[in-house]
Amino acid sequence: MFTCSSTRRLAFSFAKPSNVSRTSKATISRKYSVDAQNNDIPAKRRPRIIFSGIQPTGIPHLGNYFGALANWVKLQREAEPEDELLFSVVGWHALTLPQDPKALVEARQDMMALMLAVGLDPKRSILFHQDHNQNHVELGWIFSCLTPVGKLRRMTTWKSRLAVSRNANDESEVDDSLLNTGLFTYPVLQAADILAYKATHVPVGDDQQQHLELARDIADIFNRTYKKPSRLFPLPQSMYTPTRRVLSLKDPSAKMSKSAQDPNSRILLTDPPSLISSKIRSAVTDSLPTITYDPQTRPGTSNLLNILAACMDQDVEDVVRERYEGKARNHADLKKEVEEAVVERFRGPREEFEKVRGERAYLEEVARKGAERAKEKSDVVLTEVRRRVGLA
Ligand code: TRP
Repeated sequence: MFTCSSTRRLAFSFAKPSNVSRTSKATISRKYSVDAQNNDIPAKRRPRIIFSGIQPTGIPHLGNYFGALANWVKLQREAEPEDELLFSVVGWHALTLPQDPKALVEARQDMMALMLAVGLDPKRSILFHQDHNQNHVELGWIFSCLTPVGKLRRMTTWKSRLAVSRNANDESEVDDSLLNTGLFTYPVLQAADILAYKATHVPVGDDQQQHLELARDIADIFNRTYKKPSRLFPLPQSMYTPTRRVLSLKDPSAKMSKSAQDPNSRILLTDPPSLISSKIRSAVTDSLPTITYDPQTRPGTSNLLNILAACMDQDVEDVVRERYEGKARNHADLKKEVEEAVVERFRGPREEFEKVRGERAYLEEVARKGAERAKEKSDVVLTEVRRRVGLA
């Protein structure tokens, strides 16, 4: 684990460092030890700029919640006062797959309401709609002129998203004549989202690690191409969460997903308690009499344990040791406990969402102020970018 703070253990760990980020890490820690010697005070962490984005594609399920929103709230709580946090609803990214315009308007507003409902605080974090800040697309264009097509071809997400959007069984069934340019260059816009604020840290899930790697590559290409007077962009680190993957309640060989046929395979953040209970009760497990954690041989049971641990903000190993190991407790006991934990965890966000969602004026005000602050910060970066590339 990498942390420059000696006083605080971060709940987030950092992704495997690439060569480039290893260099920047070394530079950072050298700087800190020098400061510490000179000032005779404990080494202090350099302020972080944390950026993340979420697509407005409907009410998040349990997997989305623990994979993104819940971590953002935790980060907001644990951040140092000097750290800056920006969280964005990424409407332009949503357009890379076909969207119904009416539904998209709703989904964008709902996602902003959800960010507030789960506990993101617009006074502490900048909450905004990506599509309210044109700087992202301008920087995206400039980056696209520096990004080799070969690098984008190697990304795997566009392949899987294209396959899903075409209802194909397999990625090999879709050919790239069906691929729109936006879906292909999606990671370039994502790099612009991040670098428009010179973000240093980006909380993302597994499937986005490759996009973060690309964002670092693009930052590095820009820095080397336009190097005077100094390297402009930091190489953003990904922060990934210790929460394990949440699986489908009906088919624990697959991830919990928004698009799966059976609505009982997922729990939505807005499901009422009775529905949460019935979905968990009908979750697929196995017929062994006791409860043990073994994701390989007992995926259904282990998934429920992961959900329980996530709701309790504990490590799954601890939860199993304290509650199940060597005890005569069965799946009925486990399901009861998961039911209660999920209902309890989602109660506040669900009630708050129902309330905030109707407060249109408030939502618009939060979005407007957020966009203003986001623009102000990114204007500084874009002015420098334009100057360096020769457009100012
Ligand atoms: N691609 C991300 C996803 O699908 C969303 C996203 C867009 C994002 N821009 C970002 C995440 C910038 C982190 C940083 O989940």
